[in-house]
Amino acid sequence: MTHHRTLAPPVRRGGAPVIHAELQRHYDALYDQLLNRRPAREARPVLDVGTGDGLTLAAITQGSPLHGVGVDTAEPGHWLGPVGWSVIQADAQRLPFDDRSFRSALMVDVFEWLRHPAATLGEIARVTDGPILVVQTDWEGLWFQADKAEVGRHLVRAFTRGAPEQLRSRIRAASTEAGLEISGSSIATISAETLKPNGLAWDVLESIRRYLVIESAQVRARRFDDWRAELQRASDDGQFTMLLRRVVALLERATV
Ligand SMILES: C[S@@+](CC[C@H](N)C(=O)[O-])C[C@H]1O[C@@H](n2cnc3c(N)ncnc32)[C@H](O)[C@@H]1O
Repeated sequence: MTHHRTLAPPVRRGGAPVIHAELQRHYDALYDQLLNRRPAREARPVLDVGTGDGLTLAAITQGSPLHGVGVDTAEPGHWLGPVGWSVIQADAQRLPFDDRSFRSALMVDVFEWLRHPAATLGEIARVTDGPILVVQTDWEGLWFQADKAEVGRHLVRAFTRGAPEQLRSRIRAASTEAGLEISGSSIATISAETLKPNGLAWDVLESIRRYLVIESAQVRARRFDDWRAELQRASDDGQFTMLLRRVVALLERATV
């Protein structure tokens, strides 16, 4: 299954991808939640589940003394993550680590792809002696507004089709089934107010176009480009907003 829904910026020709400025405060907050009031030396090593190219991990941990291991079912490719971390190809449902090998775990935008979320969370908990931070973009909340009106609803729905509904309760149910307690749960709302190259809204629109027009050919390019031009006009007039939300859950082994 392809992972067409992602907030990761594309790798651009001639340079490393940038970290979206609109997400920086969110990433800083995730770092604090991962530490969970512990000094960094007590929060490591960290397991990053579904690490991809490591860019999101770098955005969350850069400049910090955290280190650890990234795992992904996909073969490791070009690593953009923090230096000094190991990267291993493994399925999070069967991790090649001893019990309690890590003091923290992180899993960003992977939950929606898990075939057996409870079993996977249980396996992550087996190898983690500390909090597990689960972050998942709630695609139901993706919203484009121009001149105060929502626009492009059909296109956005075609892009987000198949993403889990009622995400927060699904994460809750899977955690409970895995014997984990939710010690914190929140919704992060992220907004982008302009449409410009390297911006978050620009790259999300690129992903939508790539999927709808090129990969699945559900939408003709002309229809998509008309929509994008409408959004661009609104942005030029200061009348544009893109909203998205992410569920952030901090899980811990239930105490007996
Ligand atoms: C949308 S990407 C997220 C990458 C990165 N965490 C980020 O936030 O940019 C989802 C990643 O999860 C990986 N993945 C999916 N199921 C997995 C599993 N069972 N075990 C390990 N990795 C998995 C995919 O290969 C993919 O790289």
